[in-house]
Amino acid sequence: MRYPVLLTRRIPASVIARLEAECELDLYAGRDAIPRGELMTRVAGKQALICLLTDRVDAEVLDAGRDLRIVANIAVGYNNIDVEACRARGIVVTNTPDVLTNACADFTWALILGITRRLGEAERQLRRGDWKGWALDHMLGMELRGKKLGLIGLGRIGRAVAERAPAFGMDVIYHARRPVDIAGEHLPLDRLLATADVVTLHCPSTPETHHLIDQKALTKMKRTAYLINTARGPVVDEAALAWGLQQRLIAGAALDVYEKEPEVHPDLLALENVMLIPHIASATTETRTAMADLAVSNVLAALNGAPPLTPV
Ligand code: DGY
Repeated sequence: MRYPVLLTRRIPASVIARLEAECELDLYAGRDAIPRGELMTRVAGKQALICLLTDRVDAEVLDAGRDLRIVANIAVGYNNIDVEACRARGIVVTNTPDVLTNACADFTWALILGITRRLGEAERQLRRGDWKGWALDHMLGMELRGKKLGLIGLGRIGRAVAERAPAFGMDVIYHARRPVDIAGEHLPLDRLLATADVVTLHCPSTPETHHLIDQKALTKMKRTAYLINTARGPVVDEAALAWGLQQRLIAGAALDVYEKEPEVHPDLLALENVMLIPHIASATTETRTAMADLAVSNVLAALNGAPPLTPV
């Protein structure tokens, strides 16, 4: 039997071919995310849904897709999926960990270097034609060597970011639920915020981490510190961050994720001391192909009665 599968976005042809070998594929091939109505209609009768973090998979979608056996997210984060509602219906949920760890960790360092060395601001100045030439005190940033890197969340990506710290001469401090076996000091959140020169977020978006970085947290940080968010937008209160950056409570921030993507808080857009990047931490050809491939492997395993590779 060929399993009916809904795929909400085009993925590399080699991966589609693996799906089509065993499944009846319904591919939503629009340029933007599948509209909600379309998702609800097309999920009916499907045994597998392969979706993206832009697709909200809640009880309403699951009720429309009564035959679903697996929801396979092409992302490591799965806050777009109501996992409890899936569990209650016996639907397996999978994500794509590991394959994106290096891309996301490298990208976090790109943001750390980018904001501490003011790359966005400097490039904007040059393109505007405002560069007056080399000067000893032009666009001074912060050197990383000897500074403290403060990680919040020590999952796979957090660890990979920490592993790269010695290359830049940074000392690692971290806040996680429990101490882990990395070269770094485990600290309570308040102490981490007060000590770190760069605070980088690697925790999932949950009710506990919602607005973890709010006005109060920002006031605890050093005025010379930088905030990096490649985790999920809701971990940071964007309005509070914009205010904090305006007040120079911290030196700068670099964000890859936002509270209401693709919207960005308008006050942030007006600021120079923030780098605003459109959620591309895992966006390399190799990684995105591997993510799609893993999602498909999960689907084929589950539909054939085998345990999925990466259930959540
Ligand atoms: C994820 O996978 O959760 C990232 O945010 C996108 O790659």
